[in-house]
Amino acid sequence: MVKVSAPSKVILFGEHAVVYDKLGVAAAIDRRVRINVEKAKAGLEMAGEWKMSAEEMDIAHKKFLAAMQGKDIEALRGMNFKEAFAVTAAVARAKWGGEGFIVTRERSDPVKGTGGSAASFAAIAAGIAKLAGKEPSREEISAVAYAGDCVAHGGMPSGIDNTVVSMGGYLSYRKSEGLKLFSTSFSAPIVVVNTKEAASTRQMVAGVMELKTKKPGLAEGTLRLMEETAAEGLKALKDGDMERIGKLMFVNHELLRTIGVSTAKLDRVVELAREMGALGAKLTGAGGGGCAIVLPADAKHADMLAEMYRRAGFDAFTAQLGAQGVRLED
Ligand code: MEV
Repeated sequence: MVKVSAPSKVILFGEHAVVYDKLGVAAAIDRRVRINVEKAKAGLEMAGEWKMSAEEMDIAHKKFLAAMQGKDIEALRGMNFKEAFAVTAAVARAKWGGEGFIVTRERSDPVKGTGGSAASFAAIAAGIAKLAGKEPSREEISAVAYAGDCVAHGGMPSGIDNTVVSMGGYLSYRKSEGLKLFSTSFSAPIVVVNTKEAASTRQMVAGVMELKTKKPGLAEGTLRLMEETAAEGLKALKDGDMERIGKLMFVNHELLRTIGVSTAKLDRVVELAREMGALGAKLTGAGGGGCAIVLPADAKHADMLAEMYRRAGFDAFTAQLGAQGVRLED
């Protein structure tokens, strides 16, 4: 049996825009998915939850391969979450070898909207490689996790989620150029606030795509401003300029509202952040619910903000940015 873990993540700047080859900036956070992977005769089992036969796993894999060869990209939309795991395992098996797998969840810290599924795919991929005696790079693991994310997102994700949970740390990302890791002196914890509203990445990404068709001027203009905000944000992060990072987070949130991916609750989180003297706040990830991130002035302020959000009926926790990427545990 192999023990593996991968961090969850927050997108600091540029979600949605990154789908259209704009700049995205993200960081891994110290909330990890921890799983065990062991060999089985055939198929895939998520122990205690569900099982997939070898045939079902192969069908999902074939559907995925056909979709990726451009024959039927729509087919990804019709695939479910179990199939996303099956595709991840099948792609990993095709690369590194093995037969069937049993996955058990050891512990899982992430909350909806912080990349928990991408982290699970990366951890499963790393586990399958290890069982086969292989030692792939984090980039190779990320490429396998991308397959799972394509199914989970029901289309072609930008690739930022699988990249950040695999690589860890802080990174900037552009679809056509890939990732660039960077370091920052910025070290305050961030407050992650969960609105507890169910959110669908698929639907939110599809909504933005629709806006691009119906109101191209508005959509394109806003996506361009997101790119500029992300570029400025990246510079501010590299300089460790907390005030500037915060201001740009507020700006990014307004732009996300403009493309229709915020909710009244996410807006409320941002409003409360302003009222409580936070440096910045924005929704993070696909929106439509899920989480927002709030930048406190310091660690003490972070604890105070998290407590305030809990009293206001949200789930909230403080998280350290820049956590290590996917890794073997032991
Ligand atoms: C979801 O975590 C991030 C989005 O930008 C989608 C993507 O990058 O594929 C909304």
